[in-house]
Amino acid sequence: MTYLVTGATGGLGGYALEYLKKLVPVSDIIALARNEEKAASLRGQGITVRIGDYGDTDSLKEAFKGVDRLLFISGAPGNRQAEHTNVVNEAKEAGVSFIAYTSFANASNVDNMLSTDHQFTEQLIERSGIAHTFLRNNWYLENETTLLKMALDSGELDYSAGDATVGWALKREYAEAAARVLSGQQETPDILELSGEPHTYGELAQALSKASGKEISARDLDAEGFTEALKGHGLPEEAAQGILGIQQLIKAGDLELTSGDFESTLGHPLRSLEDGLKEVLSL
Ligand SMILES: NC(=O)c1ccc[n+]([C@@H]2O[C@H](COP(=O)([O-])OP(=O)(O)OC[C@H]3O[C@@H](n4cnc5c(N)ncnc54)[C@H](OP(=O)(O)O)[C@@H]3O)[C@@H](O)[C@H]2O)c1
Repeated sequence: MTYLVTGATGGLGGYALEYLKKLVPVSDIIALARNEEKAASLRGQGITVRIGDYGDTDSLKEAFKGVDRLLFISGAPGNRQAEHTNVVNEAKEAGVSFIAYTSFANASNVDNMLSTDHQFTEQLIERSGIAHTFLRNNWYLENETTLLKMALDSGELDYSAGDATVGWALKREYAEAAARVLSGQQETPDILELSGEPHTYGELAQALSKASGKEISARDLDAEGFTEALKGHGLPEEAAQGILGIQQLIKAGDLELTSGDFESTLGHPLRSLEDGLKEVLSL
């Protein structure tokens, strides 16, 4: 059995390979990378590296030769639908028997700037007829690093998401679940909603207070107040607008989900929000 992990030189892919090495023989693992140099340390661990780009079908054709099970890590927004089409087509052509795809929470029921590409890709995979599990990843706790660091500086966690909840978990926890699914050692359904326990930003502020030992209050701002606050901390307009866009999809409830899928896939509990914050912020 061969297992190929795409996005192998990225955060999630790197962690997934670390977990996968504990589950299957390293000689059965293949990493797909765009950049030879970035992948050098993977080769050093005995992992076979193949060079390929989602935008280059010839490279994918070579990379997927002899691959049984694929962990397909979604690419960056932009040209994602065309790139993902290449990945699924070439996986089908190569006879890949299983795809685990990193999707978006509740992907078939929400409609926002991030979910569209994931909905599209889920449908592609379904139409390909390849057995699959959609890893509907909720939200990395690491995504909040900018807001959290600002809060540690000012004593106030600024946000604009109202009382909406988010299913935060650590990137390495999503990766561990992905590696377990890829290994095929347990049967997995077509869809896994990988969401941590739902928490509001107010609760995130409380957890940050406990994790840091500093008094942190939470301040729910309107769109303008929020971007002004971010800019006041030195963020450029474009970055502030980007973070606002995410806050708005969260406020709409697009990351609100309660599911036991995550812990049942891992076979152990997720870290608490407080411990996760300690890890992310090295507190
Ligand atoms: N659920 C969430 O909270 C959340 C947050 C952010 C992103 N995401 C999604 O989850 C994915 C993985 O997250 P991450 O933190 O591991 O991101 P990351 O560190 O940016 O890694 C993305 C990986 O995908 C590779 N990649 C991008 N475009 C590619 C292409 N055209 N062809 C081949 N490889 C390509 C990158 O290659 P290089 O190493 O060469 O750049 C990198 O290895 C992201 O790409 C994004 O789709 C989810």
